[in-house]
Amino acid sequence: MELMCKKHGVSLLILSVFAVSVVSSYSTRFSPIDNYIINCGSSADAIVDRRRFSGDSGSSSPLFSVPSGAISVVDPVPALGTPQIYQTARVFRRPARYNFKIQDRGTHMIRLHFHLFNSSALELVHAQFHVLVDGYVLLNNFGGERAVGPVIKEYLIWVDAEKLVITFLPSKKSNFAFVNAIEVISAPKDLILENALSINNGNVVNFKGLNQELLEIVGRVNVGGPKVTPFNDSLWRTWVPDDRYLKSDFGSTKVHFSGRIQYQSGGASREVCPDNVYNSARVISSTNASVPNVNMTWQFPVVDSHMYLVRLHFCDIASISLGLMYFDVYVNGVLAYKDLDLSNASNWVLASPFYADIVVECDESGMVSVSIGPSSYSYPHAIDGILNGVEIMKMNNSMGSLDGQLSAGFLMKSWPRVTISILFPFLAAVFILLSIALVMRRRMAAASPSTSWTKLPVDVTESSSTR
Ligand SMILES: *[C@@H]1O[C@H](CO)[C@@H](O)[C@H](O)[C@H]1NC(C)=O
Ligand SMILES: *[C@@H]1O[C@H](CO)[C@@H](O)[C@H](O)[C@H]1NC(C)=O
Ligand SMILES: *[C@@H]1O[C@H](CO)[C@@H](O)[C@H](O)[C@H]1NC(C)=O
Ligand SMILES: *[C@@H]1O[C@H](CO)[C@@H](O)[C@H](O)[C@H]1NC(C)=O
Ligand SMILES: *[C@@H]1O[C@H](CO)[C@@H](O)[C@H](O)[C@H]1NC(C)=O
Ligand SMILES: *[C@@H]1O[C@H](CO)[C@@H](O)[C@H](O)[C@H]1NC(C)=O
Repeated sequence: MELMCKKHGVSLLILSVFAVSVVSSYSTRFSPIDNYIINCGSSADAIVDRRRFSGDSGSSSPLFSVPSGAISVVDPVPALGTPQIYQTARVFRRPARYNFKIQDRGTHMIRLHFHLFNSSALELVHAQFHVLVDGYVLLNNFGGERAVGPVIKEYLIWVDAEKLVITFLPSKKSNFAFVNAIEVISAPKDLILENALSINNGNVVNFKGLNQELLEIVGRVNVGGPKVTPFNDSLWRTWVPDDRYLKSDFGSTKVHFSGRIQYQSGGASREVCPDNVYNSARVISSTNASVPNVNMTWQFPVVDSHMYLVRLHFCDIASISLGLMYFDVYVNGVLAYKDLDLSNASNWVLASPFYADIVVECDESGMVSVSIGPSSYSYPHAIDGILNGVEIMKMNNSMGSLDGQLSAGFLMKSWPRVTISILFPFLAAVFILLSIALVMRRRMAAASPSTSWTKLPVDVTESSSTR
């Protein structure tokens, strides 16, 4: 017994030393107030990238509620290395809601995880459904995208209420919906600000109320660097390499920085974009007496009839000194920033991040394009253009939808209510008939005037149980 206590004491000590060192090395680690990460269709918790997804079967948490009547399915033969959250799913044959209590009003991140597998009960590949949140449409006639690996859908939503409701709605009565995991997390206050720039008919104007828009992340790119996984990101995001989006890179080179990124208060924070993204970039450099006349251009495929938020991340990790780099930034061919001076924009500190938010409409090409080129102020023998990261976010259309032209209200109404509308009159008729029968029997038997209507339901059950 004593030995056990000692052992516990030692491990506790080790644990607290460990905890202290973790806290000091991540002293600014973000801890969200609302933090729901859920392993759907399972009673077990699952650890993925150091995060605990709690099983939603039999969950007794008062903070979120699981739809009733949903079934859970298990992948009988998961592929080797499939994270635990993708081995179970919750399946809904009727409209179903997850309710989340919200304690921190403002922007929230939502991630929905989908992975198609065949259980003994059903093949998820046959699912087809809509996903709605708080009166918006996130997904319309979705079927898991027929993808081989997991599909993660990520959104940013402004929540100004005490709860957030995610609804899964099968497209037809014969269809079903499913989900493998859900994350609902309050975002840092500085993640999406109120103001941005907007490109409107070739002019650059101000855009207000950006933080109130529903956004879907459709591209998140680490320019010139490797993939960054949720393990290495302060908000558990994924950033992919830029190679497949890069359309022209004449004269550009990749750079990597192993020093410290100088986050400053008032500027981009580590939550806006992590070190692992800012410490790599592509640059245009002028190696001789003439400034090259070239652009670096990236193109991101998007769908028409939506506006997009383009967030460009810059951090001067390449110049040898302040005040030497000037460049032009084009979005969809329109000059969004002329003679951008990163030294000034980042408060005269090298390796200090700055980001630009630009709202654009998708052009006819079905692309959003970003170009960086030297400006008329650019110096020879210097770095004349840089880009470290790009995020592309789709904004909801005027129907409040991110996917299609139908509103959430319309989709809800289109669910066939046959069962409810038939069942209700049926039950009511049965009840009335029973009541009449009962009253008649009472009157005939006892002729007592004290029969009270309010007691009727109780009498009904009593009389039916005695039969
Ligand atoms: C599920 O089963 C269908 C046909 O029964 C098959 O085509 C499909 O490849 C299977 N999917 C997986 C993930 O095993
Ligand atoms: C995290 O980043 C470090 C270096 O930046 C890298 O060596 C490591 O492989 C990354 N880990 C994961 C799980 O991505
Ligand atoms: C500068 O270098 C580029 C290639 O790096 C070359 O094309 C250009 O002609 C050079 N200019 C001069 C003036 O040497
Ligand atoms: C760079 O791109 C912009 C916008 O598309 C264009 O106006 C400009 O001519 C390009 N510059 C070069 C050198 O290609
Ligand atoms: C320098 O930065 C300040 C604030 O960031 C801005 O108002 C000003 O226009 C910038 N000046 C130049 C020359 O870019
Ligand atoms: C997004 O939806 C909101 C609420 O329905 C609406 O006010 C806003 O205008 C929509 N955004 C766009 C870009 O249409």
